[in-house]
Amino acid sequence: MANHKHVAVLPGDGIGPEIVDEGVKVMKAVGDRFDYTFHFSFGLVGGGAIERLKQPLPEETLTQCRKADAVLLGAVGGPRWDRNPPHLRPEKALLGLRKELGLYANLRPAILYPGLESSSSLKPEVLEGVDLMVVRELTGGLYFGDKRTEKTADGLKATDTLVYHEHEVERIVHRAFQLAQGRRKHVTSVDKANILESSRLWRSVVERVAKQYPEVEVEHMLVDNCAMQMVRRPADFDVIVTENLFGDILSDEAAILTGSIGMLPSASLGEGTFGLYEPVHGSAPDIAGQGVANPVATILSVAMMFRHSFHNEEAAGMIEKAVREVLASGARTMDVASPGALALSTEEMGDKVVEAIRRQQDDP
Ligand code: NAD
Ligand code: IPM
Ligand code: MN
Repeated sequence: MANHKHVAVLPGDGIGPEIVDEGVKVMKAVGDRFDYTFHFSFGLVGGGAIERLKQPLPEETLTQCRKADAVLLGAVGGPRWDRNPPHLRPEKALLGLRKELGLYANLRPAILYPGLESSSSLKPEVLEGVDLMVVRELTGGLYFGDKRTEKTADGLKATDTLVYHEHEVERIVHRAFQLAQGRRKHVTSVDKANILESSRLWRSVVERVAKQYPEVEVEHMLVDNCAMQMVRRPADFDVIVTENLFGDILSDEAAILTGSIGMLPSASLGEGTFGLYEPVHGSAPDIAGQGVANPVATILSVAMMFRHSFHNEEAAGMIEKAVREVLASGARTMDVASPGALALSTEEMGDKVVEAIRRQQDDP
């Protein structure tokens, strides 16, 4: 029987529409193989929504997402809106989606695909065996605490507050331990417990939760040290669990272990099977409209959608295998190509992945 799925597609700004096209193409190719029928509902988000509807996250888009089984998002933002007031910034849409949809667990896997060692600025021998997962708390911390700017006698004063409730820490830490159970059984909890009160709470919750997962090894690491160890001995990391802002920063750093930020996918999950899937990178205004962006992060986000929202590990594996084969064949977009080498366009890269998926289908 056909498997029907409703996917809300939010291309967004900059390179968003270019990479999302390739993600949808791959979703359809895998869907054919596994007998899915899709209903795609396209929605406005970010800068495009500000232009048309004067708000970054229209109620209609949110409703569309609520009705869907999963969301595929490109990216939002751009220089055109950088001077807007906070409520009229494209990035506000992401925070709204994450909070409103209860997506507190952000999974950001960083895997070095064979052949991409030379695309990274790090030495190949340092990168050997890199396969880590950043588990970023996504609906708390500095992003969502009270913020304000006030006039004082000494000039302006700006405040952001970092708040974590015990239950918010507990649920993300459980998620990290559960993921580690299916991996190399090692969790690095990253905090700044030598300074921050919220980090001290975080650490105590990790210690308590860890007792329920005796087969998983846990270590605590201060965030500054972690940023350094991640480029010194990245292959030693398995699951890294951390608060919202630390996770944002460390995951962009992790991208370089894979060759490019254009390689890093993400899944944002809550309690059920619903999820939002998007590349870790942004709208890349510097290359938008040129058709040169790497679509692999988005394509791998689609693989995560099959894994986490549709519970189809085989389909997810098929996409990841296709990406692996295409990269092993030497196909590269500009961001990971050797200097002077001919690079593929966004669309050509997507086509290659689709062809590799079709080849797998033809195999007996
Ligand atoms: P960015 O990730 O957009 O770009 C950083 C650098 O990486 C740029 O040089 C860009 O060309 C390159 N890059 C990014 N994605 C690429 C891809 N797929 N292929 C090849 N190269 C790629 O970060 P930024 O420049 O700091 O931010 C630009 C805008 O995007 C800002 O408005 C920011 O707020 C927004 N942003 C949005 C998201 C999101 O929607 N999830 C994430 C990060 C940043
Ligand atoms: C990301 C982005 C967002 C974040 C911004 C655009 C709000 O950098 O998804 O990593 O900081 O979470
Ligand atoms: Mn980020």
